[in-house]
Amino acid sequence: MARPRCDRTAAWRQLQERFRASGAGFDLRTAFAQDPARFDALSQQAPHVFADLSKNLVDAGTEQALLALARETQLEAHRDAMFAGARINNTEDRAVKHWLLRAPRDGADADSVAVHDTLDAMLAFAERVRGDAAITDVVNIGIGGSDLGPQMAVAALESLAIPGKRFHFVSNIDGHELAAVLKKVRADGTLFLVASKTFTTLETMTNARSARAWFTQQGGKDVARHFAALTTNVEAARQFGIATTFGFWDWVGGRYSLWSAIGLPIAIAIGAQGFRDLLAGAHAMDEHFRTAPLERNLPVRLGLLDVWYRNFHGFTSRSIAPYHSALRRLPAYLQQLEMESNGKGVDAQGQPLAFATSPVLWGEPGTNGQHAYFQMLHQGTDRVPVEFIAVRAPAHELEGHHELLLANALAQAQALMQGRADAGGHRNFAGNRPSTFFVLEALTPASLGALLALYEHRVFTSGAVWGIDSFDQWGVELGKVLASDIAQRLRSGAQEGLDASTAGLLRRLRRG
Ligand code: F6P
Repeated sequence: MARPRCDRTAAWRQLQERFRASGAGFDLRTAFAQDPARFDALSQQAPHVFADLSKNLVDAGTEQALLALARETQLEAHRDAMFAGARINNTEDRAVKHWLLRAPRDGADADSVAVHDTLDAMLAFAERVRGDAAITDVVNIGIGGSDLGPQMAVAALESLAIPGKRFHFVSNIDGHELAAVLKKVRADGTLFLVASKTFTTLETMTNARSARAWFTQQGGKDVARHFAALTTNVEAARQFGIATTFGFWDWVGGRYSLWSAIGLPIAIAIGAQGFRDLLAGAHAMDEHFRTAPLERNLPVRLGLLDVWYRNFHGFTSRSIAPYHSALRRLPAYLQQLEMESNGKGVDAQGQPLAFATSPVLWGEPGTNGQHAYFQMLHQGTDRVPVEFIAVRAPAHELEGHHELLLANALAQAQALMQGRADAGGHRNFAGNRPSTFFVLEALTPASLGALLALYEHRVFTSGAVWGIDSFDQWGVELGKVLASDIAQRLRSGAQEGLDASTAGLLRRLRRG
């Protein structure tokens, strides 16, 4: 049954009034001056993640009004439906159960048993690969959720990765990417992982076929030993000639799949126990999201803040600033998570929306971003909320670096908020620019798992308030269909029926 549309609720109207009365002119400096307890009220320790929300353009009253919106749009019922296994991905008629991948085994639940049987088998395989010194290179072939999650997590946990093995990620149909990797590896020392939920994705199947052809050309014989598949389409993997397959299920969305067999590269890198710790960290956040009262529920607070910024302040983007180089792929991962989930223009019933949904997410690790686009964040004409992610304990022993890194993160957040009014003209900083500051004690499998689950549930929260289906991705289909038509035209030169621009570019690209 459809839940009430957010823009037709009383809470939405109250938020509009609130924004006019005190939201648009809200000043962070005044808010801190007036409320000595602001930091305590607007920060919180959730499992493995401390979050300071106090440098955001909210106060207790706005949070209350946003919570009323969550209640009126039945966020809790929608959340509970997800955890009960209801088919909340209604446009694909699927349940949404990535959370089950990280829950402890429940012998009474057939899906949970299947999850844990597969997990045990996959982790046993990962340990065998870790112990096989002849395998020096692991090449993951996959794209989107079958690439970004494992790639991001292997980088994030690189300080814990097994020595003597290199990890490569090939996603793009652009042959330059695979060719560059194949130059670096030897057939008898490489394990190729073909990662694809559907096992039909053009990029992945093209790369997998080319990798297999290269492998045999190089004299590689044992395809069964050197190729494994991670997919829900076990039959297609078998037809491809792959004997070792780890499966998952249609109730795991691609961008929510790093917890499944798609996480095999992570398990090879950090070991079975490390992978179990990653799952445990995410599960702790699942439990927080499932049970904490809304006003102390961190993913809910963050998701509602996102609604406040997008729909009332009209902010169009959010910048992710991980102050840890190992989190360098986090912005790209979050782009898929949030923009593929919530970049929708119709509600779950297919009705057009009269309000904005997903913002643009973007970012680079600090301090690099400071020397590139932070100019715009401090003095540009758009206000962009920034999300700082800092890790208290470093994974290296180089003297002095980490203090300077953390000092810079704090200083940037402080500068954005405080500004500097004593210098005029080009040197003026208006300040009052919002940011959120996350602190992890250390970058461990558990804290990474919790952080990622936090983001998943935050995206769930804003998507639920907006009433959209956060778990489909119909918007990726049209380009795929047109590309297959144009690929034929690039071969044949046929232009009939094409618009003049596409036809002109086709001629240009076929020339010579
Ligand atoms: O084209 C988008 C998409 O379907 C993503 O949602 C998905 O993560 C990616 O392609 C890869 O899909 P698959 O894992 O089935 O190859």
